[in-house]
Amino acid sequence: MNSAPGKLILAGEHAVVYGQPALAMPIAALRASVAVEPAPRGAGMTVHAPDLGLVWRLRATAPLSDLAQRTLDYLQLPEPDLRLTISSSIPIASGMGSGAAVGAALVRALAEQAGQQLSAQVISDLVYQSEKAFHGTPSGIDNTVVAYEQPILFQRQTQGEPLIAPLAVGNQWHFVVADSGIASETKAVVGDLRQRWLADPELYNRQFVAVGNLVRQIQTALAGNDAELFGQLLSQNHQLLQTLGVSAEKLDYLVQTALAAGAWGAKMSGAGWGGIMLALVPAERASYIQQQLRAAGAVQTWQTSLLPTDSKR
Ligand code: MEV
Repeated sequence: MNSAPGKLILAGEHAVVYGQPALAMPIAALRASVAVEPAPRGAGMTVHAPDLGLVWRLRATAPLSDLAQRTLDYLQLPEPDLRLTISSSIPIASGMGSGAAVGAALVRALAEQAGQQLSAQVISDLVYQSEKAFHGTPSGIDNTVVAYEQPILFQRQTQGEPLIAPLAVGNQWHFVVADSGIASETKAVVGDLRQRWLADPELYNRQFVAVGNLVRQIQTALAGNDAELFGQLLSQNHQLLQTLGVSAEKLDYLVQTALAAGAWGAKMSGAGWGGIMLALVPAERASYIQQQLRAAGAVQTWQTSLLPTDSKR
């Protein structure tokens, strides 16, 4: 079984599309997997997603068919007779990278069939090319973090490959994540912001630079051990996202709820207008904060943590 994790954007979403740095981490508890079974000779390749009630043939115009074809071309394989079945515990349209994770798992599954092991960079690039074809103007951060499976700083460059740097983590940080239950398509939110940026580039560029500066401070806080500072900076990022017009009433309410329940900081995460928020929390308050978020209308909550960099060596 080939799989890839979901992701959380810790800081810098949206501004990352315009060249600012952003921070992201995998969320290991939520994964997408692809199981591969042989199909009768001549049957070709089909991709089944029983959870979604969907079936694609390789030649269909769908993001996964496109990605499967790109991967087969890269592997220099003809269409195999295979039945691929996708399963995923990552909520869709929620800002947790479900599409990118399913894509990375699919690429891994096809590479395994070809007896090849692809590098994280190749997997990430294949998923990115396909996301670009179907999802407007993605920055590339989602495919990168799910393919590399480690906390990263990601920044597009004016030319050439993006900067991808592993993040130093100075403390064991605990997060609570809550799903607002409002489905939101990244493409729609990113496209709407692009229209507003086109109408007033100076205003939005200033805001993106402010996000980028904050992301640098958050990167430093993550590597240190001042939880209050780290939390305040995350909450400031939420305020900038509100100014950018990508938050939602329910996300703002969940952020307020987490703070009132004792979180050090909280923000929406991902594209916004719906989807998830995350809160930096003291470990001993995590369960209570989850309860409060559910009482405030979150449809699902999770706990996840980051371990100090040194403890993993
Ligand atoms: C989505 O996870 C993050 C956004 O910044 C879009 C992107 O970077 O492609 C909203």
